[in-house]
Amino acid sequence: MLFDNHQLEKIKASETPLYYYDLNLLDETLEQAKRAADKRNFHVHYALKANFNDRVLSLIQSKGFGADCVSGNEVQKAIDMGFPADQITFAGVGKSDKEIILSLQHDIFAFNVESIQEMEVIDELAGKLGVVAKVSLRINPNVDANTHHYITTGLDENKFGVPTSELEHAAAVIREAKNVELVGLHFHVGSQITDLNVFKSLCVKVNEWKNWFEERGTQIKVLNVGGGLGVDYQHPDENPIPDFEAYFDIFDRFLERTAQQEVHFELGRALVAQCGSLITKVLYTKSGVKKHFLVVDAGMTELMRPALYQAYHKIERVGDSEETPILYDVVGPICESSDCFGKEVPLPKSHRGDLIAIRTAGAYGEVMASRYNLRNEVRYLYSDTLNLSSSL
Ligand code: LLP
Repeated sequence: MLFDNHQLEKIKASETPLYYYDLNLLDETLEQAKRAADKRNFHVHYALKANFNDRVLSLIQSKGFGADCVSGNEVQKAIDMGFPADQITFAGVGKSDKEIILSLQHDIFAFNVESIQEMEVIDELAGKLGVVAKVSLRINPNVDANTHHYITTGLDENKFGVPTSELEHAAAVIREAKNVELVGLHFHVGSQITDLNVFKSLCVKVNEWKNWFEERGTQIKVLNVGGGLGVDYQHPDENPIPDFEAYFDIFDRFLERTAQQEVHFELGRALVAQCGSLITKVLYTKSGVKKHFLVVDAGMTELMRPALYQAYHKIERVGDSEETPILYDVVGPICESSDCFGKEVPLPKSHRGDLIAIRTAGAYGEVMASRYNLRNEVRYLYSDTLNLSSSL
């Protein structure tokens, strides 16, 4: 990862650990995604859950993306950041009454409804407010995303969406409901999907279930196919921007639709992962009988993905070094053995005070931070202004 001298000086002068956001890379990523989507008249809602840092969000908002939210607070945040309410979707298996009411009051684009009971509750709450709720029915299509089992969502054993065996019942409930309008069908099969064939299989299922509804006289205006496009954690410098053309092209070619039917996406990771790095300082070096350890000042409290999913993040030295490489286990200060960012990572022989970058940390990094061990709130730094501030 390359920093110019000015940036390097600023980083060196800052308190670590910190998230460093390359806003130029984010800008270019958003441009490419928007261009590829607009060309096909596709609508992209950015999944706030991946990163809701203010500067990141405001750049995304300024490019004309919609927002995909999974809590009332995210809906409120999206509105506060200027995302138009009619481009906000609200998903999640456990929406509380308060969150539903807030979203109804803002007249959001659509609720992605995950169960029949939720549909009934939304109908009732909308009735009480005297409004009509726009809903998309989330169908669990039983498509294997070929990704980590913790981030697979579209299989029969997952908690998400309405199983296809329940669709007859769901359709009857929707017909009876006076205060909901079915605008679309929603699908999301998992995250960090790198095999584009998975999306092809998804298209086949979307076509099938859209036809199923249309044969029963229900017109579907919106086909929301979720998010899930993966990024290259191994080679962040060689592949900093996902191939949005290839991704959208799959849907363009394989989704059957009329000119009136809209296609919506909920991308998170693909838009923000590569622009963020976690910068951490070496506190101690120590050599055991079999291992060399680098004890750094960031832990699973700042970036939980390696501990939670055994996720790989590229780890590298910040700035040049003439030292010969050694294999290090890079560990944090938290009192858990799983607090390890990588095992046997080749890094130049390191010393107390050296800086390390943990790459591809812009998605599901800062947002999943915790205060466990009463750690500090997460700090961050942007590539342009380089103003250090506290996030929460
Ligand atoms: N739509 C729905 C309904 C979702 O559940 C998700 C992610 C997205 C969209 C955005 O997916 P993306 O484009 O970012 O793949 N914490 C995990 C990832 C959890 C993803 C949850 N749902 C990780 O660090 O890998």
